[in-house]
Amino acid sequence: MKIKREHWGTRLGLILAVAGNAIGLGNFLRFPVQAADNGGGAFMIPYMISLILLGIPLLWIEWALGRFGSKKGHGTAVAVFDYLWKNPVAKYIGFLGVLIPLTVVVYYTYIESWTLLYSFFSLIGGLPSTPLTADVKDYLEPFKNFLFEKTGETSEGFLLKPPLETYIFFLITLVINLYILYRGVSAGIEKVAKIAMPLIFIMAIILMVRVFTLTSPDGRNFLDGLGFLWNPDFSALTNPKVWLAAAGQVFFTLSVGFGAILTYASYIKPKDDIALNGLAGASVNEFAEIILGGSIAIVASVIFFGVGATAVIASHGAFDLGFMALPAIFANIPYGQFFSFVWFLLLFFAGVTSSIALCQPAIAFLEDELGYSRQKSVALLGGFLFFAAHIPIFIKGALGELDFWVGTMGLVLFALFEAVVFFWIYGSKKAWEEMTRDNDIKIPKIFYYIMKFVAPTFLIIILVSWVFEYLPSVLSKTDIGTWVARGFLLFLTIAGILIIKLAWEKRNGRTSS
Ligand code: TRP
Repeated sequence: MKIKREHWGTRLGLILAVAGNAIGLGNFLRFPVQAADNGGGAFMIPYMISLILLGIPLLWIEWALGRFGSKKGHGTAVAVFDYLWKNPVAKYIGFLGVLIPLTVVVYYTYIESWTLLYSFFSLIGGLPSTPLTADVKDYLEPFKNFLFEKTGETSEGFLLKPPLETYIFFLITLVINLYILYRGVSAGIEKVAKIAMPLIFIMAIILMVRVFTLTSPDGRNFLDGLGFLWNPDFSALTNPKVWLAAAGQVFFTLSVGFGAILTYASYIKPKDDIALNGLAGASVNEFAEIILGGSIAIVASVIFFGVGATAVIASHGAFDLGFMALPAIFANIPYGQFFSFVWFLLLFFAGVTSSIALCQPAIAFLEDELGYSRQKSVALLGGFLFFAAHIPIFIKGALGELDFWVGTMGLVLFALFEAVVFFWIYGSKKAWEEMTRDNDIKIPKIFYYIMKFVAPTFLIIILVSWVFEYLPSVLSKTDIGTWVARGFLLFLTIAGILIIKLAWEKRNGRTSS
């Protein structure tokens, strides 16, 4: 079982890989939509508070758990929880740190492949183009039809029938991901991050400059857009939904609560810094989110469609903004094809550096706990993802159901377990020592209290309010897609439990004989 574990090559490479993990579709689509929808500039107040009370502390907890794992030669919460908590269930709870990212990646790679498809269609001029008409709804209609056609949404019954090109672009995306993983942590993930991250920044800056020089026929410019996004509506602060949205966005953007940061951190050397690395990765992510993410999509939409229409688009969610409003705008500016290509390629690069991060916990699990080679692990994962992806690709409603359980509930639950297992079960004194050793910067003592008391309380509040807010309507769904998704999750859970049980039996058999 003791194959030599991999390590990151350089510190810069590590920070870029971690930033690549965090910078994703969330920064460029989810963030501006959430902000526009939840009080504009006032959203930044709960956002910043959540970042400090929840995001950064949980990030450091995940990094500390990962570095602890690196000391022991394990890269997932399965083994890490087992060391920290002398209880046979610990490893099964830790399995959430594999199950969650693995399930997310089943549909994340599919959405990621749409961005590649869109950038290809932008390049060859295959996206719809409509002249600017008075009514925004008519204006977006062709783009909506295009998205529905490409994702097979228009078909009757419970089956989605996407066209062949959609399936081919999914396969290309899957192969790209698997190839990077096959090359390994340093020669694959880190190398890709070193290339993709600068490109992401260059592409985002190109788009930002273009948006900032746009004007509408009736004279709106970027200041109107920035004004709309950042004008604080302070009355939003008394609305608990705004606080939940802010906390949810902080989670999502930092990628905490998925187990993916833990796995990345397990590839540092056992005595390397985590405090500064964690903070550096988060800072790069926040720059990409607030500065770049806040200056492209929503701003462009306000310039072209005005404040009222943009509010409507944003309230329909990130896909309307990214896949309909933006290409519609680009279709009406000079060299729009090029900007549209850059926009979707930016999303694709941001997606790839995130999806490989979502895959790595499963790989680490197969390597560290089952002793499989990297090649074998990637082959197994590839086979699994290929078959599993047919669920969100072809079955209506499955994607949303999976996303609810793992992408909304699961991560808050897992983050809570991380904080509780570390600070309450392993012990807060020992946890704090483990976290603060060998760092390049000192974590302020106040974070001890935040990690022990404030963060878990905050998490429980989020969890309980989400249970009340979402669960009744989710549980009342009975369509085929919903049941397929639930069956799939149940299957994964049982399979995981059996595999872990066998792995531990084998291991204990070996040590006692
Ligand atoms: N942070 C990513 C984004 O902003 C999405 C994400 C959430 C993610 N959790 C993750 C990516 C875990 C990789 C691993 O889009």
